Amino acid sequence: MKHVLVTGGSGFIGTNFIHYVHKNKPDWHIFNLDALTYAGNPANHSHLEDDPRYTFIHGNICDADLLTRLFDSHGFDGVFHFAAESHVDRSIAGPEVFLHTNVTGTFRLLEASLAHVRKNTEKPFRFVHVSTDEVYGSLGVDDPAFTETTPFDPSSPYSASKAASDHFVKAWYKTFGLPVVVTNCSNNYGPFQFPEKLIPLMVLNILDKKPLPVYGKGQNIRDWLYVADHCDALLRAFEKGESGQTYNIGGGVEKSNLEVVKTICELVDARTGRPDGSSRELITFVADRPGHDIRYAINPDKSFEKIGYRAGHSFEQALSATIDWYLENMDWVRSVQTGAYREWIKSHYET
Ligand code: NAD
Ligand code: TYD
Repeated sequence: MKHVLVTGGSGFIGTNFIHYVHKNKPDWHIFNLDALTYAGNPANHSHLEDDPRYTFIHGNICDADLLTRLFDSHGFDGVFHFAAESHVDRSIAGPEVFLHTNVTGTFRLLEASLAHVRKNTEKPFRFVHVSTDEVYGSLGVDDPAFTETTPFDPSSPYSASKAASDHFVKAWYKTFGLPVVVTNCSNNYGPFQFPEKLIPLMVLNILDKKPLPVYGKGQNIRDWLYVADHCDALLRAFEKGESGQTYNIGGGVEKSNLEVVKTICELVDARTGRPDGSSRELITFVADRPGHDIRYAINPDKSFEKIGYRAGHSFEQALSATIDWYLENMDWVRSVQTGAYREWIKSHYET
């Protein structure tokens, strides 16, 4: 059995990744280390509770002693590092925890990984650092897409903290020889996404007949990546990537926020039998996000050539499947729309 540490495995992408790996890698034992912040939900893996190939550890990536104990007891073959504070708007409202989790937490994980590699020199090991295209900053509408050599130019406290963590990861490769791979992906969507991010927020506000808050004029462009495609890319980066390299992972789907919101309105109207066009009336333009990046877009060439990754899902079909998932999992939705979620919605949209 391969022992694989997944950090942040109870969040959105980590949950999807664990489900994907559990299905596709029968010889992997997954250890999910998660602090269960507002974004983490252990119930996402309730079906794996008694599974001998899944172990949940409730703990913090900043806890160096815990990390040492985990590496010593389980002898990990690899790490997939998802754990992070991940919401740009929250990073504007309260940046410090982003520095702590995203930078210090990554540093602690690198230190524990390096100590482990030094104790087990014969054993193959790989550290996959899951990062974001936001480290590259903002593109103009006619600029070429981000490549792996685009200079870092982060705009928000979130993207600054991720950029710092990427630099630490690369430094541990260059200076100490830790076998790392960095992936920088675009905006993910799919099942289990916490409903304060754009797509699930809009779906659920439509269902509740609440205003759909579009920042500025809704002209900012994102490159939308279906989470299942991202999971496939991460496994490829782990298995086929070269140590010390970065791979950009995109969905190949550039859309303005307004286009995305309008498409969601149409799909939900069709799915719920509401009169066509009725949900669009809920669109409400609100104050723009400070430092709001205009456009993100990924050049996929390197990932295609080197690890054979190509986004496999069409946006309309995958968005439709995502909406279906939310409609069919309203118990999950209501269980996460509690304390921290309500406080966020109130402070961010209602004051
Ligand atoms: P998420 O916010 O949904 O989940 C984060 C998870 O990390 C949660 O389960 C949370 O409890 C856990 N966590 C937070 N702080 C922790 C700590 N100190 N110790 C242990 N666990 C902790 O995030 P996500 O959307 O699943 O993103 C996962 C990773 O992918 C992040 O590193 C993020 O920067 C990156 N990423 C996400 C997107 C996206 O569109 N969601 C895009 C690009 C990159
Ligand atoms: P988000 O899901 O927060 O991802 P990110 O900021 O990491 O790209 O937001 C996606 C886009 O949607 C971004 O341009 C901001 C915009 N947005 C809104 O217009 N309204 C909202 O209520 C939210 C949460 C986001």
